[in-house]
Amino acid sequence: MYLTHLSLTNFRIFSRLGEDIPRGTLILVGDNAQGKTTLLEAIYLLATMTSIQAGTLGELINFSAARDALAISRIKATYTRGNQEHHLEVRVIQDTSSNGNSHVRKEVLLDGQKRKLNSVVGHFNAVLFLPHMLQIITGSPRPRRQYMDLALAQVVPQYSSTLSDYNKAIRQRNALLKQLKERGGDPGQLAYWDEKITQTGANIIHARIQALRELENQAATIHHDLTRGKEILRLRYQPAYEPLPTPSGQYSLPLKDPVDRSGISLEDIQSGFREKLLELREEEINRGVTTIGPHRDEMRFLGNGIDLGTYGSRGQIRTTLLALKMAEVEWMKEKTGHWPVLLLDEILAELDETRRRDLLDRLAQTEQAIFTTTDLDLFTPEFAQASAQWRIEGGRLNE
Ligand SMILES: Nc1ncnc2c1ncn2[C@@H]1O[C@H](COP(=O)(O)OP(=O)(O)O)[C@@H](O)[C@H]1O
Ligand SMILES: [Mg+2]
Repeated sequence: MYLTHLSLTNFRIFSRLGEDIPRGTLILVGDNAQGKTTLLEAIYLLATMTSIQAGTLGELINFSAARDALAISRIKATYTRGNQEHHLEVRVIQDTSSNGNSHVRKEVLLDGQKRKLNSVVGHFNAVLFLPHMLQIITGSPRPRRQYMDLALAQVVPQYSSTLSDYNKAIRQRNALLKQLKERGGDPGQLAYWDEKITQTGANIIHARIQALRELENQAATIHHDLTRGKEILRLRYQPAYEPLPTPSGQYSLPLKDPVDRSGISLEDIQSGFREKLLELREEEINRGVTTIGPHRDEMRFLGNGIDLGTYGSRGQIRTTLLALKMAEVEWMKEKTGHWPVLLLDEILAELDETRRRDLLDRLAQTEQAIFTTTDLDLFTPEFAQASAQWRIEGGRLNE
């Protein structure tokens, strides 16, 4: 899959951009704060319908455009998937009323038709690699869940809408738990939300079990190559609701032993999850929150049996992230039949000479990769010569 055209209107620093995008490799060169990462953010938004950078939607609208009563930020792309050409457009629309209140919403059009956001996720696929993604390995569980979700949403049909239904149900259930805690009432009211979250939640857990096993296989093979066979990488999914029976007297399964949940059916996950919620009902009312379920899932990375998030050296962590991202690319290709577009933000600076070559070699087989850099010298002369280059300055393309 590859982009053939991209146009941005009032998207952050880009007031206006409209360019054909070359197939193969494109390098965005420029100083800091010129808009390189923003371009990747825009493209990734087309794949996931979420911004990996923005705290709020309104941030995406160009500062000066946002002063108008009606401000529209627009990303429009043409891409080729298989032999088909598609058009995708995302609009972020801000209405400001005379009393100064503003309302921001998103709209999306696929091939000219207005569509629900969730239904469009995964039509255009991309894998994004930002330096701060080292957090996936070393940070709190949140970036790990986000990593899983952004990858799965692009590949597993319905994942995106199921996840958003689940999150909505969790918010409602938590509000009810809090109300029961503070004001009392009939705990039976929880049954409706229990049903909702076990239905949606079981689908998410089931999809994560499957996907993480597949990703682990891909990542372990790549990691084996990257470390020249010195380190064995394992990826451990730790669902907050554990569908496997835990040995008596233990709260969780030991991290080191391989765990196989692949044989558990969706129905079993759902009924087990429902039962567990009933068991925890009193405790959850006392605490006023839902304590188990996919919103609290965790995933750990082990190198030769050691937890890399806690004990990994900087080098080990970088190599693991590289393996994970390359695994994501290969996994997407395998699942969808198409190469995702690769978006690589200043990552060469993070890698040593050997890793750099490993990465560039592997990328050679994909259809399109877009790099950003402040320093063109990080690329080998052959690679730089074989790539298209754009100079980005102040939100403009300077050819
Ligand atoms: N909504 C916005 N309107 C205008 N400029 C913005 C907006 N959001 C961010 N910027 C500006 O865009 C620049 C950041 O661009 P970025 O893509 O991160 O640069 P680079 O990756 O080239 O270092 C910053 O100068 C920032 O202030
Ligand atoms: Mg940047």
